[in-house]
Amino acid sequence: MLQKMIINGGIPLSGEVTISGSKNAALPILIASIMAPGKSEFLGVPNLMDVMTTKNLLTALGAKVTFDDAFVVDSSPINSYEAPWEDVRKMRASFLVLGALLSRFGAAKVSLPGGCSIGIRLVDQHLKGFQSLGVDIVEEHGLVIADAKNIRGGKVTFDFPTVGGTQNILMAATTIKGETIINNAAKEPEVIDLVQALRAMGAVIEGEGEETIKVQGVDELSPISYRIIQDRIEAGTYLIAAAITSGDVTIKNFPTDMLTLLVEKMEEAGVVIEQIGDSIRVKGPKRIGSIDISTQPHPGFPTDLQAPITALLTIADGTSIVTETIFENRFTHIPELIRLGADITIDGRSAIIRGVSGLSGAKVMSSDLRNSAALILAGLAAENTTEVYRLYHLERGYERMEEKLTGLGANIKKGLQDD
Ligand code: EPZ
Repeated sequence: MLQKMIINGGIPLSGEVTISGSKNAALPILIASIMAPGKSEFLGVPNLMDVMTTKNLLTALGAKVTFDDAFVVDSSPINSYEAPWEDVRKMRASFLVLGALLSRFGAAKVSLPGGCSIGIRLVDQHLKGFQSLGVDIVEEHGLVIADAKNIRGGKVTFDFPTVGGTQNILMAATTIKGETIINNAAKEPEVIDLVQALRAMGAVIEGEGEETIKVQGVDELSPISYRIIQDRIEAGTYLIAAAITSGDVTIKNFPTDMLTLLVEKMEEAGVVIEQIGDSIRVKGPKRIGSIDISTQPHPGFPTDLQAPITALLTIADGTSIVTETIFENRFTHIPELIRLGADITIDGRSAIIRGVSGLSGAKVMSSDLRNSAALILAGLAAENTTEVYRLYHLERGYERMEEKLTGLGANIKKGLQDD
């Protein structure tokens, strides 16, 4: 039976919440363990569905994996370089095994990921990048069959800074003979964390967080013990949760330097944010001010916080414009927010949000991870009861959200869907 989240809204959140390790940093780093035969140990890995999918994928390739406090991978027994559709279909990040398998085995067969509800999400930039390094690629029966016998260092220039593309090429490049230069590289903190993990394995890389990353190939990589960075998207979601409920919340382990623009925008909207060591204290105003947001590659406003901030702005004083530039179909939360009483119109890639004085609870349907978070935030602010259906989307990326919000005084619990 599918689950839903039931929220009785209208309670200002208060208290302390601690941010978990980053899903989007963990997934590529766990996959990178393929390249360093032996036992690697990862700390701070969040207990989430996507992490379980990665565990299954690594196990399917032959690794021995355990996940208790630490995520431990023994990648020595990996003996397959084929990632089946069953795994890739569940999680697009599985496609990153392509770079890791090429580094380890010089060959890989990986299913094409296909689209998802937020957009078409091609991997053309990944494939073009591998081809620039001499990898032979054939697409057949929905599979990418890659052969790296002629692989060599070279130049990869992306058309735009793709996060996954940068990570995939980085992995393959670590053990290629010679130098690889990645131009127009993504600067996201999750790319930087991957570089730091690869460097701990013995890779020689410079320029992470900048437009050009240079990799000097090494002969081999060694297993590591590594702690994953905090989840900036989860952190941003709790900041917005505090603001949307006019709450007073201390967020521990808050990655302020990865969320500069969000913090600035929230302050512009009237939220009071005080840094105390590695925590922040957030005090939401009685009514938030309107702001305009445009999603951009890092250090711009993260697309993964676009739906949550849209939920917040539905009850702002005035009109806000939110523009989505990264994904073509990331407004699926909007019709559901309208069902909760929001006043929003969509004009191309922009949402024009005319703030209303309050939302009222309803049943709503989530259709992807961040849109489900946005609907829960709206439910926390809405009068009466909101039920968010298809909770499995949320569980791909937010660790123990029900428990964390309950700890902040929210009236929230899981239930079974009626259908
Ligand atoms: C990562 O996806 C994240 N996923 C996404 O988070 C995040 O929204 C995105 O980066 C942007 O920040 C993980 O880290 C696992 P991209 P990724 O390659 O790597 C198009 C979440 O909710 N594109 O930067 O797939 C693509 O379709 C998820 O946690 C191509 O056209 O992002 C998209 O529109 C959702 N061709 C845009 O570029 C390509 O070859 C950005 O993609 C590659 C991408």
